[in-house]
Amino acid sequence: MKITVVGTGYVGLVSGACLAEVGNDVLCLDLNPEKIRVLKEGGIPIHEPGLDQVVARNVVAGRLHFTTDIEEAVRFGTVQFIAVGTPPDEDGSADLQYVISAARNIGRLMTDYKVVIDKSTVPVGTADKVRAAITEELAKRGVEVPFSVVSNPEFLKEGAAVEDFMRPDRIVVGAEDEQAINLMRALYAPFQRNHEKLVIMDVRSAELTKYAANAMLATRISFMNELAVLAEKLGADIEHVRQGIGSDPRIGWHFLYAGCGYGGSCFPKDVKALIRTAAEAGQGLKVLQAVEDANDAQKMVLVDKIRARFGEDLSGRRFAVWGLAFKPNTDDMREAPSRVIIDELFRRGATVSAYDPVAMTETRRIFGDEPRLSYATRPMEALRDADALVIITEWKEFRSPDFSEIRAALKQPVVFDGRNMYDPDLPRNAGLEYFGIGRK
Ligand code: UDX
Repeated sequence: MKITVVGTGYVGLVSGACLAEVGNDVLCLDLNPEKIRVLKEGGIPIHEPGLDQVVARNVVAGRLHFTTDIEEAVRFGTVQFIAVGTPPDEDGSADLQYVISAARNIGRLMTDYKVVIDKSTVPVGTADKVRAAITEELAKRGVEVPFSVVSNPEFLKEGAAVEDFMRPDRIVVGAEDEQAINLMRALYAPFQRNHEKLVIMDVRSAELTKYAANAMLATRISFMNELAVLAEKLGADIEHVRQGIGSDPRIGWHFLYAGCGYGGSCFPKDVKALIRTAAEAGQGLKVLQAVEDANDAQKMVLVDKIRARFGEDLSGRRFAVWGLAFKPNTDDMREAPSRVIIDELFRRGATVSAYDPVAMTETRRIFGDEPRLSYATRPMEALRDADALVIITEWKEFRSPDFSEIRAALKQPVVFDGRNMYDPDLPRNAGLEYFGIGRK
């Protein structure tokens, strides 16, 4: 099949590369010439395990192409994926200008039947706007060309995006005409295994499904985070509680880990956007509003513990931070708890020495030449002259450190673990003062 993917961000690039991997001819369009230059040379602009090989393999095989030429992109694919960014407006609603401008380009230049697929996470009702934009452009040209608009939200997790695309749990398709549904079935046939993965529904339900999934997962996390704070007050241990409830199949094991708050490009944005959509429809989403408030508070939980241990004024103190990305296996720092925590430590007069396995370049881009921040090249190097270690992201390489070495390196033997990485006895037996989240 001939496929155009508009937008070579996270979702677009992964989708384009994986669709080429199963034998399609894919052309990815981006208006950023620098991005396209890097991609044409076989580089990838994001850190995502396995993606570089899939891109390289398919470029060499001649199935994956990149362009900045809008006209070429519209002409190319019968299938046109829109996978451009939908950044939040000041009021939290998704900014649709890039989606609509992609739709306009298609309407302006198409000469034969197209299936236009919304892959970006977009508010309910966006497919109607996309349809209207294309219709309007066709009317300006005074031509009638048939097209379908489909909603096909993406459920990729950063760090596991290729795997998630190649082996999806489900493929949600919102489509309302036979031709589009048949085309979507053919498109996703290579990704079917064991059981039917396609869940076909109307367009609005598909749009809402994406938000419902992320909001539900964010709700589980905020719920566990609040319970963790309570567990500490009651002398209980959230890890035991997690194991006790996760074994109930109605609850399940996933997304029950208490920590120092969720971040990333999806949960914070989608929770806000759904609250906003509901408000516009005249409904308050009380549960989801609480999920967001609880998460804002949770990002400060480590600082609360640091204040309780070292006092309100942290001037002259130095903290080692392990983990800056919003989660492991990515260099993404969007809405990362590390940013809020580091800023608050600065505000209270402290300095920070930070280490992350892959997000150091991104950290430099964000914090620049901030004199209160030093960049370590190894985990142990960050500990030098530090009053305490603060762990924010659960990278595997922090999983089994030499606790006596940590103890020897720190000025004071204190560890704040924002991701409950250790059995508390291990650091404690090595003479460290250990603070987890909701641990006994
Ligand atoms: C998420 C969804 O999982 C994915 O389906 C959707 O397409 C995009 O949003 P992503 O943002 O990449 O993916 O990360 P995810 O692994 O879901 O983690 C999100 C945040 O939740 C991270 O900050 C993570 O640290 C936090 N989290 C996750 C917890 O605090 N506890 C958990 O138990 C799980």
